[in-house]
Amino acid sequence: MSQTPFEHAGSLQVGTVDFVSPDEIKVALDIDAPESVALNTGTPRPFPRVNGYVLVPVDEGFLVGQVVWLTVERSPFPKRRGMQDFGLVDLPYPQRKLSMHPLGMLRSAGAGYAFSRGADVLPSVGAAAVLPTDAQLRSIVESGERRRVKIGTSPLAGDADVCIDPDRIFGRHLAILGNTGSGKSCSVAGLIRWSLEQAHDVQAAKAGDGDCPKYPNARFIVLDPNGEYSRAFGDDDMAKARIFRVDPGVAGAALKVPLWFWNSAEWSSFTMATARTQRPLLRRALREVKAGRLGVAGASAEERKLALRRYLSSRLIAVREELRSGTIQSDESRFGFRLRAIGADLLPKMVEFPDNGLDSVQSAIRAALAATHNSFDKNGETIEYYRAFSEEQIEAVIDALQTAVESVGGIVYQDGPDEDVPLQFRGADLVDHLESLAQQENVSQYLDFLISRMRTFLSDRKMRSIIADTEETTIESWLNDYVGSNNAADGCVSVIDLSLVPSEVVHVVTAVIARMIFEALQRYLKLNGVTLPTVLVMEEAHTFVGRYRQDMDEQDSATVCCQVFERIAREGRKFGLGLVLSSQRPSELSPTVLSQCNTFLLHRITNDRDQELVNRLVPDNLRGLLRDLPSLPSQTAILLGWASELPVLVRMNDLPTTQQPRSDDPKFWDVWVGKAARTADWGSVGADWQAGSAPVPDGGV
Ligand SMILES: Nc1ncnc2c1ncn2[C@@H]1O[C@H](COP(=O)(O)OP(=O)(O)OP(=O)(O)O)[C@@H](O)[C@H]1O
Ligand SMILES: [Mg+2]
Repeated sequence: MSQTPFEHAGSLQVGTVDFVSPDEIKVALDIDAPESVALNTGTPRPFPRVNGYVLVPVDEGFLVGQVVWLTVERSPFPKRRGMQDFGLVDLPYPQRKLSMHPLGMLRSAGAGYAFSRGADVLPSVGAAAVLPTDAQLRSIVESGERRRVKIGTSPLAGDADVCIDPDRIFGRHLAILGNTGSGKSCSVAGLIRWSLEQAHDVQAAKAGDGDCPKYPNARFIVLDPNGEYSRAFGDDDMAKARIFRVDPGVAGAALKVPLWFWNSAEWSSFTMATARTQRPLLRRALREVKAGRLGVAGASAEERKLALRRYLSSRLIAVREELRSGTIQSDESRFGFRLRAIGADLLPKMVEFPDNGLDSVQSAIRAALAATHNSFDKNGETIEYYRAFSEEQIEAVIDALQTAVESVGGIVYQDGPDEDVPLQFRGADLVDHLESLAQQENVSQYLDFLISRMRTFLSDRKMRSIIADTEETTIESWLNDYVGSNNAADGCVSVIDLSLVPSEVVHVVTAVIARMIFEALQRYLKLNGVTLPTVLVMEEAHTFVGRYRQDMDEQDSATVCCQVFERIAREGRKFGLGLVLSSQRPSELSPTVLSQCNTFLLHRITNDRDQELVNRLVPDNLRGLLRDLPSLPSQTAILLGWASELPVLVRMNDLPTTQQPRSDDPKFWDVWVGKAARTADWGSVGADWQAGSAPVPDGGV
């Protein structure tokens, strides 16, 4: 280490710089430079390969370059060291060249070296290019301050440890991209597990012999469309997970995403409501069902009174508005039906609240309706209609309503709660209410189909178990289960197995889960002034966070789902929510989400379009690095972006089979050659199928 860079350079020199630009340096290698392993340094040293490192001494340190390509150039004239003997015939000699891009500077620091990003001085042509020593390689890869969790080693840098800082890798969203079987799921499982183990070790060291909490106060939520993660986190260890799935088996709890969590956009996309007629009515139905808290057993007297106050206030405002705008005379028949609906609504309320003047509202309404009601027969059918109302008739109704509202505390200027507030109600009540609203507004024919579709969904056994049979779920219990309880006392990971969720709802369910988590963390920040760091992992992100067309009028549920993730990608950081996306098809992902990812873990990618896309995500001078992508072995990846001081090739830590997500490859050959036995008993398959059981065993796929 006591060597100056120039002395050191003498022993390891492999070539000379013959081209310098700010983003590329080319080196002509010496004829006697080693081919694959260099022995001229005393210890064998692999010759740099693509993505390996080469140093150029400058000033008092080294410029570090990363190899982009290596080539052989046919030199037209002989190259030989020492004296030229013109008596001999020299044959043209192949000359090797390499190109690298400047990464940063390596300077001596104490007994070792310190690496910093950015090349502040560039060498000149003729400067020596030297191989780094092991110690130097390590300081390059192991640079950076907060190296907290080891995720693997770097094969091109003397197997130096590659470590990450969770604040960085999870704080600004991570995208894990690669072909099937390239190791994405293992990397996801590993990142979570190794982070938790390290956090636990730090806590244990701090606690000494004292009480160390069983789990770190961490929160990971894995959305798992293939049902492969239950095995990775299923055992009773540091990374024990709470598992939620449809048809839970011995392990795990039933997946619940109550329909009263859904906001109006999610309802509209799920029911495919049209923007003009259906959506406004659906939203109104939601608002009113929530305001009335219909179907909530055991609402307190106070709550029921508030519901009545809200109801009467909204009707009072509506009738006043009709009087003011003149619809009582210009659109008299429809107004009459609306007034009649109010009368019908009041009947049960009059029984419940006998002393609040509802009977005088009722009689004012009856009087007005009786004076204007008319009917005629057409083809054997009685057609009812109303003639114009007089202002006095309606003023009488308004006065009576006014008195009734005063008796329950006065008017509230709000049409019930916002339709997006998660207040409990029953699905059947929403559909019934929507149906009666449609009748009131005389638009039943436009809503019939929607209503029957909603009824079908709600009667489906599997669907009901997820969205409707949720009486005992409260927001508190749901967040405790899915996001994790105080101090993560029941473990840090929840795995939400989406594999058996019916395909009609899987997007809505995913959107609701992601949005609930996001909004819960927003509220956490509002109430506590600090964020609760949480990581949301989305596997198979291309199906849930896919590109969509902006100009669509009716939004389908895939679009609504993607929009939730876009919002999390844009704003999640502020509320402590980090996103990890894993996908085989980066080119199908939403560009908004991808552009918000600041760190990439790139596994093998062979498809052209996907490579092109990944190329566009990284700065120009790093593109050379990505040429390795099609040939990366599984378990190996390139880590680049905010979480990594410089782009590195990582061989991820080994994950034992029991901790890997379940995605074993089928064994064709062994079955073909009889090494593994398989009997085909389709009879039992058919019987099981017709018994209506789930297609996968309790343990998931
Ligand atoms: N860190 C690791 N430790 C041990 N084995 C690994 C590791 N990474 C990958 N593997 C091996 O590679 C195989 C495929 O990995 P994995 O299931 O993670 O791929 P994938 O990219 O998620 O594929 P898909 O896109 O189909 O889900 C695993 O079954 C495992 O044998
Ligand atoms: Mg996978």
